[in-house]
Order: sequence, then structure tokens, then C-alpha cells
Amino acid sequence: MDKLPLVDLQAQYRGIKKEVDAAIQNILDTTQFIGGAALTQFEQRFAQYCGKKKSVGVSNGTSALYVALKMLGVGKGDEVITVPNTFIATSEVINELGASVKFVDVEADTALMNPELLKKAITPKTKVILPVHLYGQPCDMKAISDIATDKNVAIVEDAAQAHGARQNGKRVPVTDIGCFSFYPGKNLGAYGDAGAIVCGNEEFALKCERFVNHGRNPGEKYLHHTLGSNYRMDTLQAAVLDVKLKHLDSWTQKRRQTAKWYDGLLKGVKTITERKGNESVYHLYVIQSENRQGLLEHLHKQGIQAGVHYPVPLHMQPSYAYLGLKNGSFPVAEKLCSTCVSLPLYPELTREQVEFVAEQVMAFESSRP
Ligand SMILES: Cc1ncc(COP(=O)(O)O)c(C=O)c1O
Repeated sequence: MDKLPLVDLQAQYRGIKKEVDAAIQNILDTTQFIGGAALTQFEQRFAQYCGKKKSVGVSNGTSALYVALKMLGVGKGDEVITVPNTFIATSEVINELGASVKFVDVEADTALMNPELLKKAITPKTKVILPVHLYGQPCDMKAISDIATDKNVAIVEDAAQAHGARQNGKRVPVTDIGCFSFYPGKNLGAYGDAGAIVCGNEEFALKCERFVNHGRNPGEKYLHHTLGSNYRMDTLQAAVLDVKLKHLDSWTQKRRQTAKWYDGLLKGVKTITERKGNESVYHLYVIQSENRQGLLEHLHKQGIQAGVHYPVPLHMQPSYAYLGLKNGSFPVAEKLCSTCVSLPLYPELTREQVEFVAEQVMAFESSRP
């Protein structure tokens, strides 16, 4: 068996080469590299895809989070609540805005924000709740939005890993504002950096649109209504994403099929539970092993590339040492971070390849004392 990567962007490109090349060529021909029809078209189509009124293209997922929080007024003296088992971009933007990061632990079976703990963590300083739809599965948004409504706090969903995921039939963002990353390895990935803020409120969208483009209204050139900056999405990226968006649902179906295969084959192995009412888009297929290092080495020897998302919980990162949080502060996230392994998962993976990976995982796990 050839080497099995964690994700295979070359296989994906081979499948859509003609369409992508034509879309890129079109941008080269028109030389409309900033803004323009291709960007607007993708923004409209992505908003429609998510079932929301507006989508604002931005330079990456980190800036999507930054801009969304900033436009909600997050700043010094405010607290934003999120989880410790995520990519650091989720919390970094809170610091960047001068606000305080507050972590809450997650649920053991889903690795997602625990609403009970969230309820206890809210204080009068809490301005925004920032749940992360980790690995492609939506958090319990009913419970989280009930708490947010009760406490009069806003929600921004970090949907960087969850393009098209559904909860009770509704795509994310389930509430009003969601931030997406189109980092190349994401389920919907650009050929470089890109991101989007998706929302149901046109006024909020216009605020974001202005901010990311020097305070200008869409289509305007010389009037700067507010002070902003440059967090725009490149038109070339929008053109690539527009091509890929047409394939996203079929890719998601294949990811879900692959996850089902793993579920069936990995008997006795701890996996992540898909909560009732959720349709995960399986950005990652994650298992847990009590001997992670051993399992990673075994898989590596078999030519299987596995990943770890994420090995160090954010409160234990050197950059957050100032918080003074010790190991044991968030036991569920810590346990997940020390045991999690992401197995190869991409739409082009065959049943035979999945069987091979599962066999190797089972062989290692069953031989473990
Ligand atoms: C959960 C999460 N949030 C935020 C980001 C940041 O996105 P980007 O890398 O596009 O800035 C990522 C991806 O990298 C992510 O996985």
C-alpha cells in the first residue's frame, strides 16, 4: 500500500483541475485581482449555502474571528469565553482586542463546549461566547444560545472546521454569526489564505464589510465612512472557492461515508460521538489512544500519516502561562489533548485504504498491555 497522507490536496486538484484552471485563468484575463464580480459571486453563494443573508470574504479565518469580535465591540475590560482544545487563533484574537480569554472545559464524548460549565463561567464582564465546532461537528447551540439570551451575551461561532455542518437540519452558523477559515486543508479550502464572516444581519455584515476594506461601502472607492483596515479576501481565492463550493456537498457525503466505515471497523476504540440531531462534516476523524506516541509511531511505520489536533491545550501553552492555570484546570480537554489522534480522512480515500488504516489501529491497540 502506498503512503497514506492525512489529507490529499493533490488528489482533490486532479478531480477539479479543468474547472479550477479555467477560473484562475479568467481572473488572470480580467486582471480584477481585488474585489469585483468573482468575489461578490462567491460571497453570495456561500451565504446562500449557509442559509444566511450575508457572507463577507476576509483574508483568513483568524481575521474573520478578529473582525467579528471587534465589530461586536469587544475590547479592554471584556471577557470572551471559549474552549482550551482548539487552534490558538480562536483565543489569540480575544487577546489582540485587549479583552480577557476565559476557558471552559468540554464534553468528553464530543470534545465540544460544555454548556453547563459555560453557564457557571459567565460573569457581568462576559461580552461574547465563542464556541468551536471542532472536527466538523456543531456544539450544542440550543443550550448555548439559551444561556446567551438569558445573560444578554452575543455568540460568535468558530466554524473554521465545519463548512456545511448541520444541527437539526440547519447549517452552521446555527445562531447569527459564524466565522470560517478556508485554509487549504479545510473541507472548503482556498489555494492560499482566506476566510469569511457569515451572518443573518445585514447591518452587521455592512459594518464588517466596511471595516475589512478601509471603511468603504461595497463598490465605493474614495469615501471612508469609518476607520477600518485591510482584511480583504483575494479575488483569486474567491474564484477557486466558488469552483470548490459546487463540490462541497458531494465531498461531505464521502467524508461521512468514510467516517461510518471507520466507526464500523474500529471496534472498542474510543472515537468522537456524533450527537443526535447533528450532521458532522468530519473535518477530522479523531480517535483516542492511551499510548498515543506508540500508535503514531506504529502508523508511521506502516506509511500512514496521522495527526494530533491538538496536543497542548491552550491554557498550557507558554503564551498563556500568564493566566497561571495549572494542569488539572480543564481535565476533559487535557485528557483529549493527551490521547487524540486524527486518522487520514479525505473524500478520495477508498474503502480498502480505510480498512488498512483501521486494521493497523486495531492491531496496535489490541496488542497494548
Ligand atoms: C478552529 C479554528 N479556528 C480558527 C482557525 C484560523 O483559521 P486561519 O488559519 O484561516 O486563520 C482555524 C484554522 O486554522 C481553526 O481550525
